[in-house]
Amino acid sequence: MATFCKYSLISSLIFISFIHGSVSTELDILLTFKKSIEDSKNYLSSWSNNSAIHYCNWTGIACSTTPSLSVTSINLQSLNLSGEISSSICELRNLSHLNLADNLFNQPIPLHLSQCSSLETLNLSNNLIWGTIPDPIFLFRSLKVLDFSRNHIEGKIPESIGSLKELQVLNLGSNLLSGNVPSIFGNLTELVVLDLSENSYMVSEIPSDIGKLGKLEQLLLQSSGFHGGLPDSLVGLQKLTILDVSQNNLTGGIPEALGSSLKNLVSFDVSQNRLFGSFPSGICGVKGLVSLSLHTNFFNGSIPDSINVCLNLERFQVQNNEFSGDFPTGLWSLPKIKLVRAENNRFSGTIPESVSMAAQLEQVQIDNNSFISKIPQGLGSIKSLYRFSASLNGFYGELPPNFCDSPVMSIINLSHNSLSGEIPELKKCRKLVSFSLADNSLTGHIPASLSDLPVLTYLDLSDNNLTGPIPQSLQNLKLALFNVSFNKLSGRVPYSLISGLPASFLQGNPELCGPGLPNQCSDDQQRHQTIGLTTLTCALISLAFAVGTMLIVGGFIVYHRSYKRRSQIGLWRSVFFYPLRVTEHDLIMGMDEKSAVGGPGIFGRVYIISLPSGELVAVKKLFNFGIQSSKSLKAEIKTLAKIRHKNIVKILGFCHSDDTIFLIYEFLEKGSLGEMISRPDFSLQWSIRLRIAIGVAQGLAYLHKDYVPHLLHRNVKSKNILLDGDFEPKLTDFSLDRIVGESTFQSAMSSESPFSCYNAPEYGYTKKPTEEMDVYSFGVVLLELVTGRQAERAEASDSIDVVKWVRRKVNITNGAFQVLDPKISSSSQQEMLGALEVALRCTSVMPEKRPSMCEVVKSLQCLGSRTTCLPSIELSASEVEHN
Ligand SMILES: *[C@@H]1O[C@H](CO)[C@@H](O)[C@H](O)[C@H]1NC(C)=O
Ligand SMILES: *[C@@H]1O[C@H](CO)[C@@H](O)[C@H](O)[C@H]1NC(C)=O
Ligand SMILES: *[C@@H]1O[C@H](CO)[C@@H](O)[C@H](O)[C@H]1NC(C)=O
Ligand SMILES: *[C@@H]1O[C@H](CO)[C@@H](O)[C@H](O)[C@H]1NC(C)=O
Ligand SMILES: *[C@@H]1O[C@H](CO)[C@@H](O)[C@H](O)[C@H]1NC(C)=O
Ligand SMILES: *[C@@H]1O[C@H](CO)[C@@H](O)[C@H](O)[C@H]1NC(C)=O
Ligand SMILES: *[C@@H]1O[C@H](CO)[C@@H](O)[C@H](O)[C@H]1NC(C)=O
Ligand SMILES: *[C@@H]1O[C@H](CO)[C@@H](O)[C@H](O)[C@H]1NC(C)=O
Ligand SMILES: *[C@@H]1O[C@H](CO)[C@@H](O)[C@H](O)[C@H]1NC(C)=O
Ligand SMILES: *[C@@H]1O[C@H](CO)[C@@H](O)[C@H](O)[C@H]1NC(C)=O
Repeated sequence: MATFCKYSLISSLIFISFIHGSVSTELDILLTFKKSIEDSKNYLSSWSNNSAIHYCNWTGIACSTTPSLSVTSINLQSLNLSGEISSSICELRNLSHLNLADNLFNQPIPLHLSQCSSLETLNLSNNLIWGTIPDPIFLFRSLKVLDFSRNHIEGKIPESIGSLKELQVLNLGSNLLSGNVPSIFGNLTELVVLDLSENSYMVSEIPSDIGKLGKLEQLLLQSSGFHGGLPDSLVGLQKLTILDVSQNNLTGGIPEALGSSLKNLVSFDVSQNRLFGSFPSGICGVKGLVSLSLHTNFFNGSIPDSINVCLNLERFQVQNNEFSGDFPTGLWSLPKIKLVRAENNRFSGTIPESVSMAAQLEQVQIDNNSFISKIPQGLGSIKSLYRFSASLNGFYGELPPNFCDSPVMSIINLSHNSLSGEIPELKKCRKLVSFSLADNSLTGHIPASLSDLPVLTYLDLSDNNLTGPIPQSLQNLKLALFNVSFNKLSGRVPYSLISGLPASFLQGNPELCGPGLPNQCSDDQQRHQTIGLTTLTCALISLAFAVGTMLIVGGFIVYHRSYKRRSQIGLWRSVFFYPLRVTEHDLIMGMDEKSAVGGPGIFGRVYIISLPSGELVAVKKLFNFGIQSSKSLKAEIKTLAKIRHKNIVKILGFCHSDDTIFLIYEFLEKGSLGEMISRPDFSLQWSIRLRIAIGVAQGLAYLHKDYVPHLLHRNVKSKNILLDGDFEPKLTDFSLDRIVGESTFQSAMSSESPFSCYNAPEYGYTKKPTEEMDVYSFGVVLLELVTGRQAERAEASDSIDVVKWVRRKVNITNGAFQVLDPKISSSSQQEMLGALEVALRCTSVMPEKRPSMCEVVKSLQCLGSRTTCLPSIELSASEVEHN
């Protein structure tokens, strides 16, 4: 009572002010309440004095009708409201529900709402409420539902909250609460839902008086900094259906009697703590259990077969523990089981044929255990199974012919087992994405039917005893990984499996032949000899020496190997990142006037070279680069070569001597955008130009923001944008400063092109290169695309560059229209004006006015999608800078 007296003064003050107000109609009260609210989207337009709609039918209002019409509920959820939550609303004597969730109210807890005498539900979830929970929170003593979740409430939970005896729902989840949770639950006997989850600053034991909450159905304490043990008193939670204490720092065991006493449990999650001891066997007495998660703890011992009485079990997750003993057989035939995860334990046992009774089974992960079993036929008859992962076990015998018959099967991993026999024909699993049988004892051929699986992307059959050829038809697949290393395969390797993606692993099959492999196929021998065997081998790339690095690409793990073998014969050192077969001799022989493209270039010339395999590559010969050790040079080029983006040219490898580097790039057939624009007949349609602009912007955004380390291009110009067969642009010559060294880079740039219009104006007087400089150069390229004019015309030294030309034009009335390429039909004018606007912002004289490349990507994509996702900015003279 002491607390109450302390605050009675405050409350009486509040009540006096309230009673003082004149008696208004409910309509007036609502309008007054609205006045303090900011309704930027005008969702409350119906709330108006001269509205034809009765206030009981206004947005969010509900009234009772007996004994008289009266507002009982206000629900203004998700209306982007901000401003003040005024206590005037409490004049609605019968208001019992107020839901302002999912808005933008930015203020402390509105304690004055405790004046609402009938209020039972207060939902302020997902706003911007800040500050602490004040002690007078007890003034809300009539509340039944208090939801302050997903705000920025901080500080300790006050003991006075224990006075809210009517509370049925207390949700303080996802806030910034800290400290210890006091023992406040003795009085909260009505509580049904208690959510203190995701308060990561909390440091507390689980108060044992939670066990007194006999009506509690949901206890949600996950991700909240609870430590210590699970209190024995939890057995008192007879009504509990959901217990989630995952992702805390709990230790100790699960109280003996817990499983058997929580008869209503539906979901039990204690995962990701530091709990240990044995499996809570009593849990099997809970017939309604749907989800059981004990994963990532230190539980040990075995799991009793009595788990099979959990007839409603759908999800069983015990992975990453220290369980041992036979895996409970009964689990495999539970009628509703969907998910079984038990990987990284020491389970033994088998998967019985009765697994076919688990007709709902979707996902099985039991990797890294000691199962000793055949793969049961029954598995193949489960039509919902989409993942079966059982690597690193003792599965033996033959794969049943139906094992991939589930029409939704997408991941199979049976690597590192003892399977034998042949790989069955796989025909039915048309959704198979990833298939690994690595490190077994499989024999026979690679089934050609694999080529008919349309989405197969990762195929690993390495370390088996497979024989015969690699089916040519596998070329039809869009594989990212193809690993057949260490088998006994023979014959010609399908060409597309050697070049570019997929990352292919062929080593350890001495009888395979083909370009890039140690063995030439017999029908290639003659050609090979006429080229002449050179002793000056710059690099002979042998897959047998492939050493891997892994990159994550997309949603699945793609293994990308850097095919490198350094050879140091003579002065030449080389590293390759792709399975190319090229010798220094080939490169030198190929570099003549005929193969050279473009002019001498700032840093060196580019040659298009045809490799003995018939493949074309572009080789850039860099001279006199700065003094970099071979080791750091390699590290730098490797950094650049690891970039994988559709708008950045791939570096396939490099050779270098003391003063020359050959950088080997992928070859792109359409040449550079710069060349294309320089042709008098340049007339690409607008949609392609926009696509090129978006692609280039994406490539730069990737270098600037996504790739680690962040890189600058430093030489963006249309000549360094190459186009593939589909006009997809790819940036080349990027980050050469990292290869030739900063001082060589700067002196080369300034000797060759100090006044290039691609250079940002600040280029001359700031030493430090910036993203904004790349943005500027990009803006110039975009101007080229919009106007169809070359940035600068070398032959006519007096003609002005595209930037100056555009700036002069757009300054006059309707000038913007005059700069657009007249070869493009006027139907694209709107988009072109939009692109022009972006280009002008990119080429702002002030670096800080230029957008980031990410913003540029968004703006350009908006143009392309023909929706008005951006406020369209009018071109006005004031926004265009004079030069
Ligand atoms: C609503 O209109 C009535 C008369 O039409 C007026 O008396 C009352 O003050 C108005 N209320 C508000 C909140 O403007
Ligand atoms: C609210 O609207 C419904 C139909 O739209 C109508 O039947 C009802 O009478 C209205 N209520 C009031 C209080 O005007
Ligand atoms: C609320 O505003 C944000 C940003 O202004 C907007 O993205 C969101 O769609 C709006 N939500 C609603 C329900 O209007
Ligand atoms: C509103 O509350 C008053 C008491 O405060 C009560 O007399 C009246 O019946 C209630 N009206 C409705 C419609 O519930
Ligand atoms: C509060 O509102 C949010 C948003 O609609 C909702 O998800 C939540 O369930 C509500 N809280 C309670 C206790 O009903
Ligand atoms: C229970 O409520 C009384 C007041 O009704 C209060 O004095 C006491 O501290 C509360 N107990 C707890 C544990 O909060
Ligand atoms: C967990 O508790 C241990 C000591 O019991 C402590 O060292 C560790 O920092 C805690 N971890 C977290 C995430 O709170
Ligand atoms: C489980 O681990 C505890 C130590 O945490 C050990 O005392 C006990 O013997 C283990 N039980 C089994 C069955 O391995
Ligand atoms: C296999 O599980 C053990 C623990 O049982 C773990 O230490 C080991 O790292 C796991 N191996 C792999 C490859 O995940
Ligand atoms: C492959 O077969 C040979 C015998 O032909 C056997 O010695 C070898 O162990 C087998 N390798 C594998 C990985 O099963």
